[in-house]
Amino acid sequence: MDRQEAVLRELNLYPLWKRRNQSAPVAAELHAPEELLAVRPEPVEGRVFVAGVVRQAHHERPNEQSWINNDHADLSAVISASKIDNLGWPELKQQVRDCTACKLRAGCTQTVFGVGDEQAEWLFVGEGPGADEDTQGEPFVGQAGKLLDNMLLAIKLRRGKNVYIANIVKCRPPNNRAPAADEIATCFPYLQRQVELIKPKLIVALGKTAATALLGKDATLGSLRGRLHDYNGIPLIVTYHPAYLLRSPMEKAKAWQDLCFAVRARHGEA
Ligand code: URA
Repeated sequence: MDRQEAVLRELNLYPLWKRRNQSAPVAAELHAPEELLAVRPEPVEGRVFVAGVVRQAHHERPNEQSWINNDHADLSAVISASKIDNLGWPELKQQVRDCTACKLRAGCTQTVFGVGDEQAEWLFVGEGPGADEDTQGEPFVGQAGKLLDNMLLAIKLRRGKNVYIANIVKCRPPNNRAPAADEIATCFPYLQRQVELIKPKLIVALGKTAATALLGKDATLGSLRGRLHDYNGIPLIVTYHPAYLLRSPMEKAKAWQDLCFAVRARHGEA
C-alpha cells in the first residue's frame, strides 16, 4: 500500500474514482470499514508554518470587515495594527512574542506564531492553539494536527513544503473555548501581516472561526463550503476544522470534497 492510499484510508476516503475529464479524484466509497483505518501514514518530515489569524478593525486595508462586534476591542490594539504593517518576519515574530494586547496572553504558556514555508502557495488557517500547541509553541501538533497532516498528504502536500499553517489567535484561549471577538480583533493584524508576507495563492479556512474572521461575515460553514471566496484578492476556500472531523468522522467525506475543490481552485479550475 502506498502512502497516499494509507492516508486516504485513514480519512475514510478509499478507494477513489477519477471521473473522465476531471483532474481531481472523487471519493466514491465514503466510509471505509473501521479495520481499514488502522493504517497510519509515516511521520512527516519537516514542519509547516502555522500562524494565527483574525479579522479586525483595520481601516486602511481593502476588504474591510465589520463582522466583529468591536464594543470591547482595545483601541491601543487597533493603533498598534498600523505598526505591524511594515514589519518583516523577524520583527513580526518578536512583536507576537512580546504581545500582551489581550487577556489571552496572561493565561497561556507561550504565543504560537505559526509554522511552515514562508513563501508557501498554500495557507491553512485554524482557530487558535490548544493544549499541545501551547506546550510546544507550534500550531496543529495535537490530534487535530495529525489529521491535518493526513489531509495535506491526501492532496500531496506536507508540512514544511509549500504549506504554511496559522491560527486566528496566537495564544491559547482558556479551556479551549473559542476566541472572543475582541481577542480576534486584537490579534488579527498579525495574521494579516503574515498573509502579506507569505503571499499565498490559496487560503484554506479551517472551521467557522477562521472562515468568519477571514471573510468578515457570519454564516454557516455549510453555506460557505464549495465556493471560491476572496481574501484581499487571494482565493479562499472553507472546510471543516480537523478537530470537528475527529468528533464527526462521517463528515470527512465532505472535507475530502473540499480538499478536491481546493486543488481545483489552486489550479484555476474552480
Ligand atoms: N486547533 C486550531 O485551530 N489550531 C491549532 O493550532 C490546534 C488546534
